[in-house]
Amino acid sequence: MQWVSIREVSEASINNFTCSDEERVEEFFKHNAKKYDFEMLARTHVLLDGEEVIVGFFTLFNEEVEVGVKKAEKLYSHLYRESFNLFPAVRLHYIGIDDLYRMKGIGREVFGRVFNTAIKIAEVTGCIFITAEAINDNIIIINEHYGFKTLRPRRIPSEPQFMALRIKDLLS
Ligand SMILES: CC(C)(COP(=O)(O)OP(=O)(O)OC[C@H]1O[C@@H](n2cnc3c(N)ncnc32)[C@H](O)[C@@H]1OP(=O)(O)O)[C@@H](O)C(=O)NCCC(=O)NCCS
Repeated sequence: MQWVSIREVSEASINNFTCSDEERVEEFFKHNAKKYDFEMLARTHVLLDGEEVIVGFFTLFNEEVEVGVKKAEKLYSHLYRESFNLFPAVRLHYIGIDDLYRMKGIGREVFGRVFNTAIKIAEVTGCIFITAEAINDNIIIINEHYGFKTLRPRRIPSEPQFMALRIKDLLS
């Protein structure tokens, strides 16, 4: 298997990717991921089996996260001033594994790649969190399993849950 940018992947391969239990992920991957990548708005990293078959992907972009005053004090009491509760982050926008490749440890490999990429970003530019808007119960559970904490719980089930993982915690 090999990692490539979505810019190197053919439209035919992209169209064959299926993520039938989460249509927002499939929809984004098929219709927006390449466009966003060409605009440098978000980068999509694709795991290929052989030359053509897409096994999974993840998409990242940069953002700034506002952390509530109490949480900011707790996290960074030594840095915190009234205006210092905005923290640099890398957003895990979407992650998806093709239907045929689920429950085989590919998700673990893809999360590993996300974490290593975030560590590299943090080394080059300074970055505190990996953030995610978890859009279903399954991904909330898996994110928690990998160490994400909820920063903003959803108020209704159709809302995403805003979660974050401290990049520093990946190094310990
Ligand atoms: C979430 C997803 C990426 C997991 O991919 P996968 O290849 O099936 O996952 P893996 O087999 O590598 O399992 C990853 C870990 O999650 C756990 N896991 C997988 N499915 C799980 C489930 N339904 N409930 C609880 N834990 C689960 C596994 O035990 C494993 O833990 P480990 O690393 O300690 O062994 C995949 O199900 C998917 O693409 N879902 C649809 C898209 C989606 O909802 N994306 C998130 C929104 S952006």
